[in-house]
Amino acid sequence: MNEATLGGRFTFPGTSLTVHRIGYGAMQLAGPGVWGPPEDPAAAVAVLREAVAAGVNHIDTSDYYGPHVTNQIIREALHPYPQGLVIVTKLGGRRPPDKSWQPAISPEELAAGVHDNLRNLGLDALDIVNYRVMGSGHGTAEGSIAEQVTVLAGLRREGLIRHIGVSNVTAAQLSEAQAITDVVCVQNNYNLAHRHDDALIDDLNRAGIAYVPFFPLGGFTPLQSSTLSSVAGRLGSTPMQVALAWLLHRSPNILLIPGTSSVAHLRENLAAGQLALSPQDLAELDGIAAASALQH
Ligand SMILES: NC(=O)c1ccc[n+]([C@@H]2O[C@H](COP(=O)([O-])OP(=O)(O)OC[C@H]3O[C@@H](n4cnc5c(N)ncnc54)[C@H](OP(=O)(O)O)[C@@H]3O)[C@@H](O)[C@H]2O)c1
Repeated sequence: MNEATLGGRFTFPGTSLTVHRIGYGAMQLAGPGVWGPPEDPAAAVAVLREAVAAGVNHIDTSDYYGPHVTNQIIREALHPYPQGLVIVTKLGGRRPPDKSWQPAISPEELAAGVHDNLRNLGLDALDIVNYRVMGSGHGTAEGSIAEQVTVLAGLRREGLIRHIGVSNVTAAQLSEAQAITDVVCVQNNYNLAHRHDDALIDDLNRAGIAYVPFFPLGGFTPLQSSTLSSVAGRLGSTPMQVALAWLLHRSPNILLIPGTSSVAHLRENLAAGQLALSPQDLAELDGIAAASALQH
């Protein structure tokens, strides 16, 4: 794949880390419910190798996917890592045996999480760590994150973390984090139909900070919309490709980490960088969020 097909490049602010705007999110590589090993571990390894072979150099993960399983698959598939591969992980959660998602936010849990990531990924330092606020499920909830971000900043001074991001945050929480440390990326829930962060994305773009939407395709329930399907049909592409292309058009600081367990879907998602959307396409696609807001 050439440069343009992966959406061009983005450099995280104040870093030497430059990535293609189309990356890969590894959460779908664990077993059902993001728990345990996948049914076909060789297929998971194949997806990662295909992604990197196609030029992907930004992989999003967490040691609580599986737990541990996803990072171990990344290590098996890609270690020793190619020059320039940026692996972004996150802290702030844990998965008890009942498979629920619980906060892990004490200084001890955050430090243990860094060491779990380092061990399972086979790294000496983590490129970027997002502090993921557990909030309310996949939604944000106000509340101070100063204590946790301060712990991460300390782990950064120790050299275990190179750069810090935040995830599932409000604008107030982002400001609080920025008063403590440089923040290079924000990872929140955002897609064609879920546009709560529109103003935040524009603010971050002005500051040169990456915005990395999670659930870019709708997450566990992929996006479905007759408008999306009709634009895709007109362009001879798939709805998922249009959803990703729309994000690339939305703002130059948006980086994509679509998740998939399938090589066929991976190829389709990477090809979304080649899709040009006309002003008419964009206007129709912008109508999806308006319609979805009316339903809620
Ligand atoms: N910070 C956070 O709190 C947070 C939360 C959630 C996720 N994340 C990160 O964000 C990444 C992306 O989110 P996500 O994986 O949950 O959701 P997503 O990328 O919005 O969608 C993934 C779903 O779409 C399907 N899919 C992918 N490509 C497709 C295609 N071309 N055609 C049809 N279906 C397709 C996948 O199934 P198949 O496997 O069958 O392709 C999977 O069911 C994750 O992998 C993870 O790294 C972060």
